[in-house]
Amino acid sequence: MNNFEFKNPTKIIFGKDTIEKVKEEIPQDAKVLLLYGGGSIKKNGIYDQVKTALANVDVVEFGGIPANPEYATLMEALQVIKDQNITYLLAVGGGSVIDGTKFLSAAAVYDGDTPWDILTKSIRTEKGMPFGTVLTLPATGSEMNSGAVITRAETKEKLAMGGPGLFPEFSILDPQVITSIPQRQLANGLMDSFTHVLEQYMTYPIGALLQDRFAESILQTLVEVAPTVLKDPTDYQAASNFMWSCTMALNGLIQKGVPGDWAVHMMGHELTALFGIDHARTLAVIAPSHYKYNFEAKKEKLAQYAERIWNITEGSTEDKAYAAIEKTEAFFHQLGIDTKLSDYTKDYEGTAEEIAKRFKARGWKLGERQALMPEDAEKIVKMAY
Ligand code: NZQ
Ligand code: ZN
Repeated sequence: MNNFEFKNPTKIIFGKDTIEKVKEEIPQDAKVLLLYGGGSIKKNGIYDQVKTALANVDVVEFGGIPANPEYATLMEALQVIKDQNITYLLAVGGGSVIDGTKFLSAAAVYDGDTPWDILTKSIRTEKGMPFGTVLTLPATGSEMNSGAVITRAETKEKLAMGGPGLFPEFSILDPQVITSIPQRQLANGLMDSFTHVLEQYMTYPIGALLQDRFAESILQTLVEVAPTVLKDPTDYQAASNFMWSCTMALNGLIQKGVPGDWAVHMMGHELTALFGIDHARTLAVIAPSHYKYNFEAKKEKLAQYAERIWNITEGSTEDKAYAAIEKTEAFFHQLGIDTKLSDYTKDYEGTAEEIAKRFKARGWKLGERQALMPEDAEKIVKMAY
């Protein structure tokens, strides 16, 4: 196992009817900016629950943060923060609203001229404006980590940012919120969290027995609850296990002491930037090709995953590893998610070259050994057409 340090300061408030507890977490003298997305919270009652809880707090609102939070929209929110002397941010939404809020937390205290530099120059935020979240969509894990991904339509870029100052102070996780989530987004949440675990697990063995089993238990739980979550989102047992799995998949715990990959995400982000494909679906497009292309480097962990998640016990290491990739792709199909780029766009020619060009310009070497060069990414993306 590798050496590690672990600190996660986010307070989790989990369970039925917990949204009203938001009033206990926000300082009474705060001037709050309540941030939300396209309006789903107004239809499903979450907005009313939050507003009722904050009846005695000074709250300004900013709605309209789109999926794949857009820089231009966030710059409008930043102006509101400055004009209204906001002191506390409250994200009510999924990964997009939470990530947008993290950007604002960083940008509010940033003293450079162009906040976009936070993304292009990888400026880490040591201390941002304090914020909390009410999670409405289990998927990204953003509610308990310090990373964010921001999109800029003008330049077709989607870039990551982070820093120890960007953990939410608290996050409220009421699994009942999933009852109003459309099928497409439920499937996305299952897909995204599953891939988060794979990115931190499907590398090479490093003798981190407990970390492997943490990761495997999340994968097993997601496979077990997926059919019920999709069929009946009012099933509280499935909903609560789904929600907690998504948070645990990317709150930092399972990546401690082990190598991490994240190349599937880096290639996937480009597909969202170029074509607007849902984040989770880009992962389904890239992952099978990524594991086939990097088969030799990953076959031991693939075979372990084959045995422990899919009960594939017959054959050589290679046989099991290959069967596991097929099983994984079949699972994505079971979620109703297509796994080829051509399923999403007819305009895919040239995509692999464009992505390789971008990675080269950024000097990126990806994968758990930083051995995946732009030329490799180009081949992987081509395999995914
Ligand atoms: O905008 P509204 O109207 O709220 O509707 C949203 C949106 O259209 C809807 N929704 C959310 N909760 C709902 C609901 N509809 C009905 N009932 C509810 N309770 O769902 C749609 C998608 O929401 P979004 O927040 O975009 O989804 P998700 O949570 O999947 O977030 C995706 C974003 O997170 C980034 C992705 O790149 C993408 O930009 N990621 C963030 C990560 C992180 N911070 O750690 C890691 C991930 O790998 C990922 O990159
Ligand atoms: Zn993801």
